[in-house]
Amino acid sequence: MPSARKPLVVIGSANMDLLTRVQAFPRPGETMPGSALLQRPGGKGANQAIAAAQVGASVSFVGNIGTGAFGDALVANLEQAGIDLSHLERSSKLPAGTALILLNKAGENEIVVTRSSNELVGVAQIKRSKQLIQGAGIVLLQMEIPLASVQAAIALAHAAKVPVVLNPAPCTKPLTQKLLKQVDWLTPNEHELTALTGKRVKTMTDVAVAAQHLLSQGARNVVVTCGAKGACWVTRDKVTWFPAPRVKVIDTVGAGDCFNGVFAAGLCASKTINQALSQAVARASSLISRVRKPVR
Ligand code: RIB
Repeated sequence: MPSARKPLVVIGSANMDLLTRVQAFPRPGETMPGSALLQRPGGKGANQAIAAAQVGASVSFVGNIGTGAFGDALVANLEQAGIDLSHLERSSKLPAGTALILLNKAGENEIVVTRSSNELVGVAQIKRSKQLIQGAGIVLLQMEIPLASVQAAIALAHAAKVPVVLNPAPCTKPLTQKLLKQVDWLTPNEHELTALTGKRVKTMTDVAVAAQHLLSQGARNVVVTCGAKGACWVTRDKVTWFPAPRVKVIDTVGAGDCFNGVFAAGLCASKTINQALSQAVARASSLISRVRKPVR
């Protein structure tokens, strides 16, 4: 009997996204009309978990979703996607996360995430999830939960030789070399790459140079998501581009999450890196060219 595949463990946030379309982003002090409000489940962790489940991964989600109507809807959405929620905790101390999102005509977004139960994913919860993490095929994290918890989870996975994918989003602080040395795949976008390295990233060469800087700090592989240009996988000896197909851009929200979820699912399913990255680029491109319906 073949042994069952180990799960992809996604540790992170869930938010209810409240979104409106505007002609252009408002300037400070400016008021402008937007489209009718769209409400749909989001959050980088939940988005990544769902993207991975949609390509067939067996996914366990570790997070904290506040009680209340938004929280209930977020949990129902994860359940519907077939995600294991045995390590999800719920709290009434803080409300479930909410993300206020503006989408402009070019499909670009601006996002503000409110203070929420995502903050309650503490080191103690990570310790309670120790067995799950140690038995994972891949552990995938982002940075919408406390950094100490991200660090604790990565340390546990690394000690158990479980490959770690860290999507450093949002990127508000530099990452320590100790942390970078425990990360197998670091997946910033171009803005995050600049925030992490202090290096200007405009050209394809800039991407490779800044990514090399992170490798010199200890990261093993850097995969930079570069929007319409696709994704760039950088190791010490090689730079490989995975170009994105040309698509009409409608809604970029969660494109990076889709990429990360699908990529991690591919690694978990023992696909080659080239296969996993090509599929991730293709799925993220398809997502941004779709009109997504609100889900309540
Ligand atoms: O990456 C997109 C996500 O960022 C949104 O779904 C929003 O909730 C924020 O977490």
